Amino acid sequence: MIAIPEVLARSVRLELGHEDAARWIRALPDVVDDLLARWKLTVESLSGTPWAGYQSIVLPVRTVDGVPAALRVASPIANNPAAHQQLRSALETWDGFGSVRLMAADAGHNATLLERLDQTIDLNSVPLQTAASMWGGVVRALSRPAPPGLVTVQGTAQRWIDDFPGKAAQLLPSFRLFTGTDNMLVQATLNTARALATAPDAYLVHADLHYSNVLSSHPDPANGQRTWKAIDPYPVSGPVAFAVAPMLWNRLAEVPANEPEEQAAWLRAHCTSLCHAAGIDPAQGAAVSVAREIENLFWYLADFAQGDQRAHADAARSLWVARAISGHSVGGIDVHSLAGL
Ligand SMILES: Nc1ncnc2c1ncn2[C@@H]1O[C@H](COP(=O)(O)OP(=O)(O)O)[C@@H](O)[C@H]1O
Ligand SMILES: [Mg+2]
Repeated sequence: MIAIPEVLARSVRLELGHEDAARWIRALPDVVDDLLARWKLTVESLSGTPWAGYQSIVLPVRTVDGVPAALRVASPIANNPAAHQQLRSALETWDGFGSVRLMAADAGHNATLLERLDQTIDLNSVPLQTAASMWGGVVRALSRPAPPGLVTVQGTAQRWIDDFPGKAAQLLPSFRLFTGTDNMLVQATLNTARALATAPDAYLVHADLHYSNVLSSHPDPANGQRTWKAIDPYPVSGPVAFAVAPMLWNRLAEVPANEPEEQAAWLRAHCTSLCHAAGIDPAQGAAVSVAREIENLFWYLADFAQGDQRAHADAARSLWVARAISGHSVGGIDVHSLAGL
Protein backbone atom coordinates (compact mmCIF):
# COMPACT_ATOMS: atom_id res chain seq x y z
CA MET A 1 0.00 0.00 0.00
CA ILE A 2 1.35 3.45 -0.89
CA ALA A 3 1.04 6.20 1.67
CA ILE A 4 0.33 9.44 -0.19
CA PRO A 5 1.99 12.42 1.51
CA GLU A 6 -0.63 14.93 2.67
CA VAL A 7 0.88 17.86 0.72
CA LEU A 8 0.44 15.90 -2.49
CA ALA A 9 -3.11 14.84 -1.60
CA ARG A 10 -4.02 18.46 -0.84
CA SER A 11 -2.61 19.89 -4.06
CA VAL A 12 -4.21 17.14 -6.18
CA ARG A 13 -7.55 17.99 -4.55
CA LEU A 14 -7.00 21.66 -5.41
CA GLU A 15 -6.12 20.79 -9.02
CA LEU A 16 -8.79 18.16 -9.73
CA GLY A 17 -11.50 18.66 -7.11
CA HIS A 18 -12.29 16.22 -4.31
CA GLU A 19 -13.99 13.51 -6.33
CA ASP A 20 -11.43 13.17 -9.13
CA ALA A 21 -8.56 13.47 -6.65
CA ALA A 22 -10.00 10.67 -4.49
CA ARG A 23 -10.42 8.51 -7.61
CA TRP A 24 -6.78 9.11 -8.66
CA ILE A 25 -5.49 8.30 -5.16
CA ARG A 26 -7.65 5.15 -4.91
CA ALA A 27 -6.40 3.85 -8.25
CA LEU A 28 -2.73 4.54 -7.50
CA PRO A 29 -1.74 1.18 -5.89
CA ASP A 30 -3.09 -0.76 -8.89
CA VAL A 31 -1.48 1.69 -11.32
CA VAL A 32 1.89 1.24 -9.62
CA ASP A 33 1.53 -2.57 -9.56
CA ASP A 34 0.70 -2.56 -13.25
CA LEU A 35 3.77 -0.43 -14.12
CA LEU A 36 6.09 -2.50 -11.89
CA ALA A 37 4.96 -5.68 -13.64
CA ARG A 38 5.11 -4.27 -17.16
CA TRP A 39 8.50 -2.60 -16.76
CA LYS A 40 9.87 -5.47 -14.62
CA LEU A 41 10.80 -3.26 -11.70
CA THR A 42 11.25 -3.91 -8.00
CA VAL A 43 10.61 -1.22 -5.42
CA GLU A 44 13.51 -0.33 -3.16
CA SER A 45 12.36 0.50 0.35
CA LEU A 46 14.43 3.52 1.27
CA SER A 47 13.58 5.63 4.28
CA GLY A 48 11.63 8.77 3.45
CA THR A 49 10.00 7.23 0.38
CA PRO A 50 7.81 7.58 -1.55
CA TRP A 51 9.05 10.99 -2.67
CA ALA A 52 6.48 13.50 -3.80
CA GLY A 53 5.98 17.03 -4.99
CA TYR A 54 2.69 18.84 -5.59
CA GLN A 55 1.79 16.72 -8.60
CA SER A 56 3.55 13.38 -8.51
CA ILE A 57 4.51 10.41 -6.44
CA VAL A 58 8.00 9.02 -7.08
CA LEU A 59 9.26 5.59 -6.03
CA PRO A 60 12.86 4.38 -6.03
CA VAL A 61 12.99 1.20 -8.11
CA ARG A 62 15.50 -1.13 -9.77
CA THR A 63 15.24 -2.54 -13.26
CA VAL A 64 15.57 -6.22 -13.95
CA ASP A 65 19.29 -5.55 -14.60
CA GLY A 66 19.69 -3.91 -11.19
CA VAL A 67 19.88 -0.36 -12.54
CA PRO A 68 18.57 2.22 -10.02
CA ALA A 69 15.68 4.25 -11.41
CA ALA A 70 12.74 6.36 -10.27
CA LEU A 71 9.12 5.54 -11.11
CA ARG A 72 7.10 8.77 -11.31
CA VAL A 73 3.31 8.79 -11.55
CA ALA A 74 1.87 12.25 -12.12
CA SER A 75 -1.68 13.34 -11.43
CA PRO A 76 -3.47 14.81 -14.46
CA ILE A 77 -3.34 18.57 -15.03
CA ALA A 78 -6.89 19.85 -15.29
CA ASN A 79 -6.41 22.42 -18.04
CA ASN A 80 -3.72 20.68 -20.07
CA PRO A 81 -4.55 17.17 -21.34
CA ALA A 82 -1.34 17.23 -23.44
CA ALA A 83 0.92 17.68 -20.37
CA HIS A 84 2.26 14.12 -20.33
CA GLN A 85 3.09 14.15 -24.03
CA GLN A 86 4.77 17.55 -23.70
CA LEU A 87 6.88 16.39 -20.75
CA ARG A 88 7.82 13.25 -22.64
CA SER A 89 8.91 15.06 -25.79
CA ALA A 90 10.96 17.54 -23.72
CA LEU A 91 12.78 14.73 -21.90
CA GLU A 92 13.35 12.93 -25.21
CA THR A 93 14.77 16.10 -26.75
CA TRP A 94 17.18 16.60 -23.85
CA ASP A 95 18.12 12.92 -23.87
CA GLY A 96 19.68 13.10 -20.41
CA PHE A 97 21.84 16.18 -21.12
CA GLY A 98 20.92 18.91 -18.63
CA SER A 99 17.89 16.89 -17.55
CA VAL A 100 17.07 13.57 -16.00
CA ARG A 101 17.19 10.75 -18.58
CA LEU A 102 13.87 9.19 -19.62
CA MET A 103 13.93 5.37 -19.65
CA ALA A 104 10.25 4.63 -20.40
CA ALA A 105 6.90 6.42 -20.51
CA ASP A 106 3.24 5.41 -20.24
CA ALA A 107 0.66 7.92 -21.40
CA GLY A 108 -2.33 6.07 -19.94
CA HIS A 109 -1.05 6.42 -16.39
CA ASN A 110 0.89 9.72 -16.80
CA ALA A 111 3.92 7.69 -15.75
CA THR A 112 7.62 7.92 -16.47
CA LEU A 113 10.58 5.76 -15.58
CA LEU A 114 13.55 8.04 -14.95
CA GLU A 115 17.25 7.77 -14.30
CA ARG A 116 17.73 7.83 -10.49
CA LEU A 117 19.29 11.05 -9.27
CA ASP A 118 20.57 11.89 -5.78
CA GLN A 119 17.40 13.08 -4.12
CA THR A 120 19.37 14.35 -1.08
CA ILE A 121 21.22 17.04 -3.07
CA ASP A 122 19.33 19.75 -4.95
CA LEU A 123 20.08 23.42 -5.62
CA ASN A 124 18.61 24.34 -2.21
CA SER A 125 21.70 22.78 -0.68
CA VAL A 126 24.14 25.28 -2.20
CA PRO A 127 24.51 28.99 -1.36
CA LEU A 128 22.43 31.36 -3.50
CA GLN A 129 25.40 32.75 -5.48
CA THR A 130 26.78 29.31 -6.28
CA ALA A 131 23.29 28.15 -7.17
CA ALA A 132 23.01 30.94 -9.75
CA SER A 133 26.02 29.72 -11.71
CA MET A 134 25.02 26.04 -11.43
CA TRP A 135 21.50 26.93 -12.60
CA GLY A 136 22.94 28.86 -15.55
CA GLY A 137 24.90 25.81 -16.65
CA VAL A 138 21.74 23.70 -16.57
CA VAL A 139 19.79 26.30 -18.57
CA ARG A 140 22.52 26.46 -21.21
CA ALA A 141 22.43 22.66 -21.55
CA LEU A 142 18.62 22.67 -21.82
CA SER A 143 18.37 25.45 -24.42
CA ARG A 144 17.70 23.53 -27.65
CA PRO A 145 15.21 24.05 -30.46
CA ALA A 146 11.77 23.16 -29.09
CA PRO A 147 9.98 20.03 -30.31
CA PRO A 148 6.48 20.58 -31.76
CA GLY A 149 3.31 20.50 -29.67
CA LEU A 150 4.36 22.60 -26.68
CA VAL A 151 2.58 25.55 -25.08
CA THR A 152 4.29 28.65 -26.54
CA VAL A 153 5.47 31.74 -24.67
CA GLN A 154 4.10 33.73 -27.62
CA GLY A 155 0.59 32.31 -27.07
CA THR A 156 0.85 32.87 -23.32
CA ALA A 157 1.87 36.49 -23.91
CA GLN A 158 -1.10 37.02 -26.23
CA ARG A 159 -3.39 35.68 -23.49
CA TRP A 160 -1.82 38.19 -21.06
CA ILE A 161 -2.55 41.01 -23.52
CA ASP A 162 -6.17 39.86 -23.82
CA ASP A 163 -6.81 39.13 -20.13
CA PHE A 164 -4.70 41.38 -17.93
CA PRO A 165 -6.49 44.71 -18.43
CA GLY A 166 -9.75 43.07 -17.30
CA LYS A 167 -8.09 41.26 -14.40
CA ALA A 168 -6.41 44.49 -13.29
CA ALA A 169 -9.75 46.31 -13.22
CA GLN A 170 -11.46 43.47 -11.41
CA LEU A 171 -8.86 42.36 -8.85
CA LEU A 172 -6.52 45.24 -8.02
CA PRO A 173 -8.88 47.86 -6.52
CA SER A 174 -9.56 45.66 -3.47
CA PHE A 175 -5.89 44.66 -2.97
CA ARG A 176 -4.86 47.29 -0.46
CA LEU A 177 -1.08 46.77 -0.84
CA PHE A 178 -1.34 47.80 -4.49
CA THR A 179 -0.68 51.53 -4.90
CA GLY A 180 -1.11 53.98 -7.77
CA THR A 181 2.55 53.71 -8.79
CA ASP A 182 2.22 49.93 -9.02
CA ASN A 183 0.07 50.47 -12.12
CA MET A 184 3.40 50.93 -13.89
CA LEU A 185 4.11 47.24 -13.23
CA VAL A 186 0.97 46.27 -15.12
CA GLN A 187 1.87 48.66 -17.97
CA ALA A 188 5.40 47.23 -18.11
CA THR A 189 3.94 43.72 -18.17
CA LEU A 190 1.74 44.58 -21.15
CA ASN A 191 4.74 46.06 -22.98
CA THR A 192 6.74 42.91 -22.28
CA ALA A 193 3.80 40.78 -23.42
CA ARG A 194 3.62 42.67 -26.73
CA ALA A 195 7.34 42.03 -27.32
CA LEU A 196 7.03 38.35 -26.33
CA ALA A 197 3.94 37.74 -28.47
CA THR A 198 5.96 38.39 -31.63
CA ALA A 199 9.34 37.08 -30.44
CA PRO A 200 10.96 34.78 -33.03
CA ASP A 201 12.60 32.45 -30.46
CA ALA A 202 11.45 28.84 -30.21
CA TYR A 203 13.79 27.34 -27.61
CA LEU A 204 12.75 24.45 -25.41
CA VAL A 205 12.42 26.14 -22.00
CA HIS A 206 11.84 24.53 -18.60
CA ALA A 207 9.37 27.03 -17.15
CA ASP A 208 9.46 25.65 -13.58
CA LEU A 209 13.21 25.41 -13.03
CA HIS A 210 13.42 26.35 -9.34
CA TYR A 211 15.95 25.16 -6.76
CA SER A 212 14.05 21.94 -5.88
CA ASN A 213 13.79 20.90 -9.51
CA VAL A 214 17.56 20.72 -10.07
CA LEU A 215 19.05 17.56 -8.57
CA SER A 216 22.57 16.18 -8.46
CA SER A 217 23.24 12.98 -10.35
CA HIS A 218 24.93 10.16 -8.48
CA PRO A 219 28.70 10.18 -9.08
CA ASP A 220 29.60 8.81 -12.50
CA PRO A 221 31.36 5.47 -11.80
CA ALA A 222 33.91 6.29 -14.55
CA ASN A 223 35.24 9.53 -13.03
CA GLY A 224 33.37 10.17 -9.77
CA GLN A 225 31.84 13.37 -11.19
CA ARG A 226 28.38 14.61 -10.34
CA THR A 227 26.18 16.61 -12.74
CA TRP A 228 23.27 18.95 -12.01
CA LYS A 229 20.12 17.83 -13.81
CA ALA A 230 16.64 19.25 -14.19
CA ILE A 231 13.60 17.23 -13.16
CA ASP A 232 9.85 17.86 -13.35
CA PRO A 233 9.78 19.94 -16.56
CA TYR A 234 6.97 22.26 -17.47
CA PRO A 235 8.24 22.62 -21.03
CA VAL A 236 7.31 25.59 -23.19
CA SER A 237 8.59 26.95 -26.50
CA GLY A 238 9.90 30.50 -26.60
CA PRO A 239 12.70 32.83 -25.44
CA VAL A 240 15.02 31.39 -22.76
CA ALA A 241 14.34 34.48 -20.60
CA PHE A 242 11.09 32.76 -19.57
CA ALA A 243 13.18 30.40 -17.37
CA VAL A 244 14.42 32.96 -14.82
CA ALA A 245 11.39 33.87 -12.67
CA PRO A 246 11.04 30.69 -10.54
CA MET A 247 14.56 31.38 -9.19
CA LEU A 248 13.37 34.76 -7.88
CA TRP A 249 10.23 33.77 -6.01
CA ASN A 250 11.92 31.03 -3.93
CA ARG A 251 14.41 31.23 -1.01
CA LEU A 252 13.48 34.84 -0.26
CA ALA A 253 14.05 34.18 3.45
CA GLU A 254 17.75 33.88 2.64
CA VAL A 255 18.09 37.25 0.91
CA PRO A 256 20.98 38.95 2.71
CA ALA A 257 20.59 42.54 4.01
CA ASN A 258 18.02 43.79 6.50
CA GLU A 259 16.94 47.03 4.88
CA PRO A 260 14.09 46.54 2.36
CA GLU A 261 15.56 48.62 -0.51
CA GLU A 262 18.90 46.84 -0.08
CA GLN A 263 17.09 43.51 -0.18
CA ALA A 264 15.37 44.56 -3.40
CA ALA A 265 18.69 45.63 -4.91
CA TRP A 266 20.17 42.28 -3.91
CA LEU A 267 17.35 40.37 -5.66
CA ARG A 268 17.81 42.52 -8.79
CA ALA A 269 21.52 41.71 -8.80
CA HIS A 270 20.70 38.03 -8.29
CA CYS A 271 18.44 38.21 -11.34
CA THR A 272 21.34 39.69 -13.34
CA SER A 273 23.70 36.93 -12.10
CA LEU A 274 21.23 34.25 -13.14
CA CYS A 275 20.90 35.82 -16.59
CA HIS A 276 24.66 36.13 -17.09
CA ALA A 277 25.16 32.52 -15.99
CA ALA A 278 22.52 31.31 -18.46
CA GLY A 279 23.42 33.57 -21.41
CA ILE A 280 20.18 35.58 -21.16
CA ASP A 281 20.01 39.34 -21.77
CA PRO A 282 19.58 40.68 -18.18
CA ALA A 283 17.08 43.38 -19.22
CA GLN A 284 14.89 40.80 -20.96
CA GLY A 285 15.29 38.35 -18.06
CA ALA A 286 14.13 41.00 -15.60
CA ALA A 287 11.22 42.19 -17.76
CA VAL A 288 9.88 38.68 -18.35
CA SER A 289 10.27 37.83 -14.66
CA VAL A 290 8.21 40.87 -13.66
CA ALA A 291 5.52 39.82 -16.13
CA ARG A 292 5.45 36.28 -14.75
CA GLU A 293 5.12 37.64 -11.21
CA ILE A 294 2.22 39.84 -12.29
CA GLU A 295 0.60 36.72 -13.78
CA ASN A 296 1.08 35.02 -10.38
CA LEU A 297 -0.33 38.08 -8.62
CA PHE A 298 -3.57 37.88 -10.62
CA TRP A 299 -3.71 34.15 -10.04
CA TYR A 300 -3.38 34.54 -6.25
CA LEU A 301 -5.83 37.45 -6.10
CA ALA A 302 -8.41 35.38 -7.99
CA ASP A 303 -7.93 32.56 -5.46
CA PHE A 304 -8.25 35.08 -2.62
CA ALA A 305 -11.48 36.40 -4.14
CA GLN A 306 -12.73 32.78 -4.10
CA GLY A 307 -12.12 32.62 -0.32
CA ASP A 308 -8.59 31.14 -0.15
CA GLN A 309 -7.19 33.25 2.70
CA ARG A 310 -3.60 32.02 2.28
CA ALA A 311 -3.48 33.45 -1.24
CA HIS A 312 -3.32 37.02 0.12
CA ALA A 313 0.19 36.42 1.52
CA ASP A 314 1.21 34.85 -1.79
CA ALA A 315 -0.05 37.94 -3.63
CA ALA A 316 1.97 40.16 -1.30
CA ARG A 317 5.11 38.17 -2.11
CA SER A 318 4.49 38.39 -5.88
CA LEU A 319 4.02 42.14 -5.65
CA TRP A 320 7.24 42.51 -3.63
CA VAL A 321 9.26 40.54 -6.20
CA ALA A 322 7.74 42.42 -9.15
CA ARG A 323 8.53 45.77 -7.50
CA ALA A 324 12.07 44.68 -6.60
CA ILE A 325 12.99 43.33 -10.03
CA SER A 326 11.57 46.33 -11.85
CA GLY A 327 13.48 48.73 -9.57
CA HIS A 328 10.38 50.21 -7.91
CA SER A 329 10.32 50.94 -4.20
CA VAL A 330 9.26 47.91 -2.15
CA GLY A 331 7.37 50.25 0.16
CA GLY A 332 9.34 49.53 3.33
CA ILE A 333 8.29 45.86 3.37
CA ASP A 334 10.95 43.53 4.80
CA VAL A 335 11.33 40.52 2.48
CA HIS A 336 11.89 38.30 5.53
CA SER A 337 8.38 39.09 6.74
CA LEU A 338 6.78 37.63 3.58
CA ALA A 339 5.27 34.15 3.42
CA GLY A 340 7.50 31.62 1.68
CA LEU A 341 6.26 29.65 -1.30
N1 LIG B 1 14.80 10.95 -11.09
C1 LIG B 1 14.71 11.13 -9.77
N2 LIG B 1 15.63 10.59 -8.94
C2 LIG B 1 15.53 10.76 -7.60
N3 LIG B 1 14.56 11.46 -7.00
C3 LIG B 1 13.62 12.01 -7.77
C4 LIG B 1 13.65 11.89 -9.19
N4 LIG B 1 12.59 12.55 -9.71
C5 LIG B 1 11.93 13.07 -8.65
N5 LIG B 1 12.54 12.76 -7.48
C6 LIG B 1 12.12 13.15 -6.13
O1 LIG B 1 10.69 13.23 -6.12
C7 LIG B 1 10.24 14.57 -5.84
C8 LIG B 1 9.01 14.89 -6.68
O2 LIG B 1 9.31 14.79 -8.06
P1 LIG B 1 8.83 15.87 -9.12
O3 LIG B 1 9.05 15.30 -10.46
O4 LIG B 1 9.47 17.18 -8.82
O5 LIG B 1 7.28 15.91 -8.79
P2 LIG B 1 6.21 17.08 -8.77
O6 LIG B 1 5.70 17.13 -10.15
O7 LIG B 1 5.16 16.60 -7.82
O8 LIG B 1 6.91 18.32 -8.29
C9 LIG B 1 11.44 15.44 -6.17
O9 LIG B 1 11.40 16.66 -5.45
C10 LIG B 1 12.60 14.56 -5.77
O10 LIG B 1 12.79 14.59 -4.36
MG1 LIG C 1 8.87 19.22 -8.45
